[in-house]
Amino acid sequence: MAKGAASVSDYRALAKARLPHFLFEYLDGGSYDEVTLRRNVEDLQAVALKQRVLRDVASIDLSTELFGKRVDLPVGLGPVGLSGLYARRGEVQAARAAAAAGVPFTLSTLSACSIGEVARAAPLWFQLYMVKDRGFVSDMVARAKEAGCGALLLTVDLAVPGTRYRDSRAGLSGSLRGPASRAFQVLRRPDWAWDVAVRGRPMTMGNLEPLLGSGAALADLMGWVAKNFDASVTWKDVEWVRSQWQGPLIVKGILDPDDARAAVDNGADAIVVSNHGGRQLDGVLSSARALPAIADAVAGRMPILADGGVRSGLDVVRMLALGADFVLLGRAWAYALAARGEAGVAHVLKLIEAEMRVAMALTGCTRIDQLNEQILERSGNQATF
Ligand code: GLV
Repeated sequence: MAKGAASVSDYRALAKARLPHFLFEYLDGGSYDEVTLRRNVEDLQAVALKQRVLRDVASIDLSTELFGKRVDLPVGLGPVGLSGLYARRGEVQAARAAAAAGVPFTLSTLSACSIGEVARAAPLWFQLYMVKDRGFVSDMVARAKEAGCGALLLTVDLAVPGTRYRDSRAGLSGSLRGPASRAFQVLRRPDWAWDVAVRGRPMTMGNLEPLLGSGAALADLMGWVAKNFDASVTWKDVEWVRSQWQGPLIVKGILDPDDARAAVDNGADAIVVSNHGGRQLDGVLSSARALPAIADAVAGRMPILADGGVRSGLDVVRMLALGADFVLLGRAWAYALAARGEAGVAHVLKLIEAEMRVAMALTGCTRIDQLNEQILERSGNQATF
């Protein structure tokens, strides 16, 4: 267990102290003024729960079913770009921690470790971006199949990249002085530099090597995203991916009830209610606020996953009560990975589990399917925020 860390916010502080500045800013930051990033956290924390007592909560079952499989917790590790650089071969470490806890791990397209490298260590889901080179997309789907990935998450809220001021200020994007500035920041973090940059080589983008060559480094990545993400994508492309992938297909980045209905109509097996962690369109609703109307629109026709602002087991319980069936963690696990590697991620999952047990006991619930609007304080038919 990580000494001195009792919560996700403790891990955030440790991550900040350990990572080179530009990597911490990339992980921690959102787009523009970070209004949505703050809303994600604050709206969720403000959801008021109903305390109930004397209901025999001696035995609490946290398991749930997703895509016909039992999962130990209604929680998974969502895709986080560059997470392989937060710790040595970071995605492998995180995938191992998730497997030990009996929850899914999702590998980002923009990862340091390739699908194959992670698959050799632990089971995984794969997150896919639609890029202009459809040959690359097909190839990634084929590789995900070959690696036995349990689900494909197609991220649809990055047709264009949101502007993230912190990335340019920290020298990750848009600055000629970027490389020199990053090198200086790395020198100020010798523990990270030795552990990750030296012993964790190669520091390349594992999945992009076929496109960028084996020297595919960080700086190329940001240029690649800006040039190659495809703004012309439509539901037809979702259908096209559907035709190549027989396993569970999860459309990630839904924030509107009509888009959720369209996902049902276009062959998705699930959606992720998400604003990309407040990293895309700043000013949109928090996931917590968007969720109830989407749950009404979907009306049980497919599972709803949600992410955005989840920093505790209590937040997981709130998301489930607002209408989610399953919750993805993002920064919560990535901070822990940066701070303490696999042990940190395992510890965060333990914290989440313990906090969920307390929240369920004191709302009088013993099973995940009891976490619904009944446990929320309401005024009229709105949850009280
Ligand atoms: C990538 O998905 C990012 O948000 O940076």
